[in-house]
Amino acid sequence: MGTVAFLNEAKEATGKGAVLVTGGAGFIGANFVLDWLVLGKGTVVNLDKLTYAGNLHNLESVGGDPRHIFIEGDIGDVALVGKLLNEHRPCAIVNFAAESHVDRSIHGPADFIATNIVGTYHLLESARAYLQNLSAAEQGEFRFLHVSTDEVFGSLEADDKPFTESHQYLPNSPYSASKAAADHLVRAWHHTYRLPVLITNCSNNYGPYQFPEKLIPLMIHHALTDRPLPIYGDGQQRRDWLYVADHCAALRRVLERGRVGDTYNIGGCNERSNIDVVHALCDILDAERPRADGRSYRGQITFVGDRPGHDRRYAMDAGKIGRQLDWSPAETFETGLRKTVRWYLDNTDWVERVADGSYRDWVQQNYSNR
Ligand code: NAD
Ligand code: TYD
Repeated sequence: MGTVAFLNEAKEATGKGAVLVTGGAGFIGANFVLDWLVLGKGTVVNLDKLTYAGNLHNLESVGGDPRHIFIEGDIGDVALVGKLLNEHRPCAIVNFAAESHVDRSIHGPADFIATNIVGTYHLLESARAYLQNLSAAEQGEFRFLHVSTDEVFGSLEADDKPFTESHQYLPNSPYSASKAAADHLVRAWHHTYRLPVLITNCSNNYGPYQFPEKLIPLMIHHALTDRPLPIYGDGQQRRDWLYVADHCAALRRVLERGRVGDTYNIGGCNERSNIDVVHALCDILDAERPRADGRSYRGQITFVGDRPGHDRRYAMDAGKIGRQLDWSPAETFETGLRKTVRWYLDNTDWVERVADGSYRDWVQQNYSNR
């Protein structure tokens, strides 16, 4: 019986079966929670600190749903997490909570150390303590799924093969170093304490509810508000893009069928240079929402000073999850990007709400001296 089967059975038996999702008010976490509830997978206890990146508007559509229990709090708050675990008795923890933006990690790494490393450590310890209170059967079904990134592997040369799970960890930014440290802690808690962990390393996500500090939503937002589209350096850095719903489907698959202690690389097999991504966005916007003057949005593209230590290329070999867990992405880059642009066009009020004063301060801080 997989974890989800345990969840459903536990729910029927006790009315309390649940998963604890951390960071479920952020971009990927919110998509995961919404999909989980739409698919009728059961109760979600959603713990989120509501940093600048956490947004309860992302969860508006499940506002009155009794299967969604939202708690504002920190993954490092051992007393709170212990209380939640013992009260709701989840069969899994899915850890999305993190500081996630590379540029912010360059300007201020402290929060990245606090949440991504120290916070993950506390969450692991909370999970370990909780496990002692479960029956042997429940312990056998419990999973700690840690959501991580391809950036832990560092940067590829142009002709290198994509990252496999056994690639050396060579993180280059404060963000990727903090995620790498967290991955190592999760791995160690399995080897030392037998905590039943799973680790996923995923490529760049895009889709609905992504905060407009990341490349794709930032470019859409800037295009529509007639601002420059800032390309770092020569725009030839390459990323492997995955539509967020495909990432969430992969996580469910790993939760259900993944082998305890294993790591799984997740990627879209959609490697693109940044300039190509922005050109593709401009072309979709030209068709869907032409500029009033009839010119292409490409005219707004501006090359700006590069990100310090900018990784040149990431690419994921998602062969293991494909072969062993029968997962593959449903969206191509073209279909996913079009869906994403349409979502942002249909949800300009969402963007306006998150692009508040602190967002404008960030844009000023990050882009004014490039
Ligand atoms: P995000 O920044 O949009 O959301 C992070 C969420 O975590 C926010 O809701 C925030 O309020 C919450 N949070 C931050 N610190 C917290 C704390 N101490 N306690 C509780 N909640 C806290 O990030 P995202 O893009 O949704 O990424 C989610 C996870 O996926 C991260 O761990 C990230 O490293 C990983 N990841 C992201 C991508 C990507 O392309 N976005 C790719 C691969 C992996
Ligand atoms: P980002 O979305 O920040 O993701 P990550 O750094 O985690 O890959 O950036 C994606 C790529 O786009 C990265 O190579 C940096 C580049 N980029 C720009 O060129 N301009 C921008 O304004 C931003 C935010 C990113």
